[in-house]
Parts: sequence; structure tokens; C-alpha cells
Amino acid sequence: MCGIIGFTGNIPAKDIILNGLERLEYRGYDSAGLALLENGEVTLHKRTGKVEALRNLCASDDNSATCGIGHTRWATHGGVTDVNAHPHHAGNVVLIHNGIIENYRQLIVEYGLADKLVSETDSEVVAQLLNIFYEGDPIAAIKKTIKLLSGAFALCIMFKDIPDKIFAIRNVSPMIATHCDQGSIIASDLTAVIAFTKDYFVVPEYHILTLTKDEIVVEDLKGHVTKPEILTVNWDIEGAQKGGYPFFMLKEIFEQPDAIRNTVSPRVEDGLPSFEEDGIDDAIFEHCKRITIVACGTAMHAGMVGKQLIEEKLRIPVQVEIASEFRYKNPIIDENTLTIVLSQSGETIDTLEALKLAKTFGSKVLSIVNVKGSTIARESDYVLYTHAGPEIAVASTKAYTVQVAAMYLIACRLGLVKNIITETMARQFISKLLSAPNIIEETLKQAEEIKRIANQIKLSPDAFYIGRGLDYVMGLEAALKLKEISYVHAEAYAAGELKHGTIALITENVPVIAFATQEKVYDKVISNIVEVKARGAYVVLVSMDESVTDTKVCDCHIRIPRLDSEFTTFATAVILQMIAYYTSEAKGLDVDKPRNLAKSVTVE
Ligand code: AGP
Repeated sequence: MCGIIGFTGNIPAKDIILNGLERLEYRGYDSAGLALLENGEVTLHKRTGKVEALRNLCASDDNSATCGIGHTRWATHGGVTDVNAHPHHAGNVVLIHNGIIENYRQLIVEYGLADKLVSETDSEVVAQLLNIFYEGDPIAAIKKTIKLLSGAFALCIMFKDIPDKIFAIRNVSPMIATHCDQGSIIASDLTAVIAFTKDYFVVPEYHILTLTKDEIVVEDLKGHVTKPEILTVNWDIEGAQKGGYPFFMLKEIFEQPDAIRNTVSPRVEDGLPSFEEDGIDDAIFEHCKRITIVACGTAMHAGMVGKQLIEEKLRIPVQVEIASEFRYKNPIIDENTLTIVLSQSGETIDTLEALKLAKTFGSKVLSIVNVKGSTIARESDYVLYTHAGPEIAVASTKAYTVQVAAMYLIACRLGLVKNIITETMARQFISKLLSAPNIIEETLKQAEEIKRIANQIKLSPDAFYIGRGLDYVMGLEAALKLKEISYVHAEAYAAGELKHGTIALITENVPVIAFATQEKVYDKVISNIVEVKARGAYVVLVSMDESVTDTKVCDCHIRIPRLDSEFTTFATAVILQMIAYYTSEAKGLDVDKPRNLAKSVTVE
């Protein structure tokens, strides 16, 4: 996710901005830049690469400017290039932006900006619009521009002819601000400001901030000045990077709504899935007769969701392969097979080697990767980057759900290109996918109930996840999550298979978490639950059913919002992640760094 920082005060701004950008590096980025304003002149440096490289670039500047803005870019619209880096400069305006302007293409056409633009970014479009509307009144120009934008944005803006002032406004994308002895500071999060002060305020949405060295004025769009509540942090720098959460994993669980918005929204055009920006050729979907999905661990589990969707809806055969197995078999793939590779890090050696093997059989490779420019991305024919931001915890959460979201987009695009589904069906499907972030936000509210369940599960050396169809696939991910961070030996089982042996392991108080969100097999799963309950299991039921209160069926019930069965995965994902997280936390374990595990398995 991009990082932004702005400073105006009574000391030079350059090092404050560079140091702040370094503190924001954990957010993940591929480019960095800054702009300093002094005597009506703008000194602007920006390039791909690290903040350190930017610091070197600015080293010779003897700029004593006390007003400036800085940015670390996590590319969404437009490739990783110097010109796409921020800040963007258009006439009188210099700005930095974190977010996604969903209607930027339409604005380019409406305001005839095509010949003015030098970058491929949505952010530059905002700079150009501000410059068009700016006739000496910055607030008026900002109001006019903001009315046109749809999407998420956190903007810091300087006007060349307005010395020592920074203007800012946000919608959805995060931004905090503070005034201290040195001046006024605004940033994406606390990490960049905590070195100066622990008092800050959250920038209210759709309020225009005017930062000067003496104060920060906050006014709503009607010009009413407001005073946001001042908050105080009790974190150190490392804590700030966790955004106040005790572990990165919990922070990343709660980042999932935005991660999915940032991954899906840029790929929806007029309500339909579009990979135009990604340069993914529809031909790979048109010509494929079958699909092979290759990955490891959680990434593979995301691929298994894709298998269920594609086979169920499109009747196209999908084979999911464990990369370390696939590498050493003689795979049955050819030029009519589309190989989809999933990897958060883009560096998993087994997945990389499997990708190379697939290509030797003439198969086109589309990879779903979260780290830009990673090896798997570079080796693939096509890449669909997820925009989850950096995932620090070893246990993958937000990277998993954005991989799942990417599979939904691919399934929909595949069905459209092959004329298996109509545009109307595709629009309905995409509209349900766009509501996934809200479903997750709703489900996250059950954290307290899940904590109570975790306190029961932590007492047991074993646990079972059961389900059918998509719920069984989610059970596989649930078992892995619980094992890898709480060390409870968990196993996922197709609910109908339990009585063919494994039910022998069900004894008093053994936790059995049943996912029962698939309507057509709901009653079957309930009867499987009754079987294990009768043998003393501690049963957690996860379903959409409001009516379940009978303790003969379950010991506790986590209800998820009523949805189409094929879209319950996002709610189930958050529940399984929170069960694992709170069990590990209840056991006093290091949730982010579980024993024996690495974030990226770059060795065989
Ligand atoms: C995820 O919780 C695990 N840590 C692990 O299974 C991971 O998904 C797997 O190693 C694949 O990593 P990748 O997505 O970076 O390729």
C-alpha cells in the first residue's frame, strides 16, 4: 500500500520526509519520491527503487525548503516506472495520492486530459484536474475536483504559488495528522510521525486540511471548521508498524476489506471483469480446454477455491497440483492447458520450478502474485498482481483472500470470454464479489465470540474441520492455519467421509468445527454434526442458518450473513483465520513467527 507524508514547519523538510518514508517502507512499495516547495519553486525527485536511492538522489540538494511531500508507491494503476512514481506535477499543482480513483479513465475523456498526461496513473489525472480548476483559490479547486472522483483517495497537495502550505483530503484511504513544535505533519499512518509526537488525529473523510507551520485547519466541504478528537498512542515505532495491533497477523486480518477492494476494483469496468490494465490477453482464456493450478500451502488452497468455482459454473476441468509433487511427475498438460500459478511472495522455489516445467509443455502461465517484480512474476507469461500490501506475518491471511478474489475474477472473465455466461450473469457475479469487503467487515465483528471458542480449542491437542464442497476446501485452509500458528494438530475432512474411519478419533471434547454454508448439502452436514456430537465432540457450527439454537447440534454457532453459497468463502476465511489467531494468542505463542516456518520457502 502506498505511503504518504507531508511536512511544513520551521525546520528543513527534506530529511523529515525521507526519514518518514523510511518508516513507511514496511507498507511495501516499488518507487519513492518527494517534492519540496520554496520561493515558488518545486524541487521534485522520484524514481523506482528504495528510499535510500531517493536519499542519494537528493543528497546534493542544499534545499532548505521547510515545506514538502513524500510518497512510496505500491503500483496499482500503471507499471513500476520513474514517471509513474509520485509526486505528480501539473502546472501549479504537485500532489501525492494513496488509493484508487475508479473513474479516472472517464475523467481523462471528459476533460480531454490524454495529451496532458505523462504517466499511466490515476493520481496524475487528479493533479491535472486540480490544475484546471485552480484560479487562486485552493479550497475551491479541491472541492470542484473531489466532487468528480469516485474511489478511495488520500491526497496531499501543494500549490506552487502558495508558500509553506499543504492541503489534504481523504476518502477511505488512511491518513492521520498532527501539529508539534517542529510544524505540521500528515501521513498514511503513525509510523511516520511517532518520532515527533504521540498525539495525533485521524483525518475525517471529505474534510479539507490546510497545514501551515503554526496550525492545521480542518474544514468540511461547507467551510465549517471542525476540531477532530486528539488521540494518543502508547506504541513504540515497531508497535506503530503494527498499527496498534499486538501482532501483524491480526492487523493483516483486519486489512482484508481494503486489500480486496484494491485488488478487485481496478479490474471492474462497467460492472464486468477486465484484465486490460494487466495486459492479460483474453486468448489464454479463449483457447484453454483445461486448467492446471499449481501452488503450495495456503496459495494452493486459494487455487482449490478456483477449481470449485470454475468446474461448478463453467464445466471446464481444473486440476490442482501441489507444486513440489507436480515438479517431479510427467504432467498431462499441453498448449491447450492454461496453467495458473499462485504465490504471495513470488519466490517459492517449488512453485517457480513447477511454472518452468509447465512452460516446457507449451502451456501458457498466468500467475497471481502479491510482490511486484518477484521471480515468479517475471517468469510468467501473464501476471495478475494482488494488491494486499506487504504481508509480514508468516501465516498468510490477506494474501489468501485476495488470491481467492483473483480466482473469482478469473472464473468470471473465463466464462465471459468463452460465452458460457452472459454479461448480465457476469455483472451479478461481480456485484456480489464487490460486496466481499463488507461481508468481511461484518464477520470481523464476531471476534469476541471466536475468542471464546479459541479458549476451548487451545485445551485440545487435536481438532477437526469438516465440510462439503467449498466448505471442505475452506476446511483445508482452516486446518493449516490452526496447525501452523497454534500447533494444535488439525485435520480437514470431507464431512461425508468422517464415518469411513476418522470418526474413531472423535472423543469427549475433541473440537470439531463444521462449515455448513453450502445450502444444497446443509442438512447432510448437520447430520454429520449430530454424529460427532453424539460422541462427545465440542462442536462449532459455522452457517447462515438463523434458526440453529439446539445444543444437541452444536456447542456454539457462528452465523455468517446470508449469501449465495458460492460467496460464503470470504466470511468463512475470516472465521478460520481468527480461530487460528486467537487460539495461538491464547496459548501465548509468537503468532507472527511460528516455530520452524519462514515467510517464503525459497529452498526445496
Ligand atoms: C501460509 O499461511 C503458509 N505460511 C504457507 O503455506 C504459504 O502459503 C506457502 O509457503 C506458499 O507461499 P507463497 O504464497 O509465497 O508461494
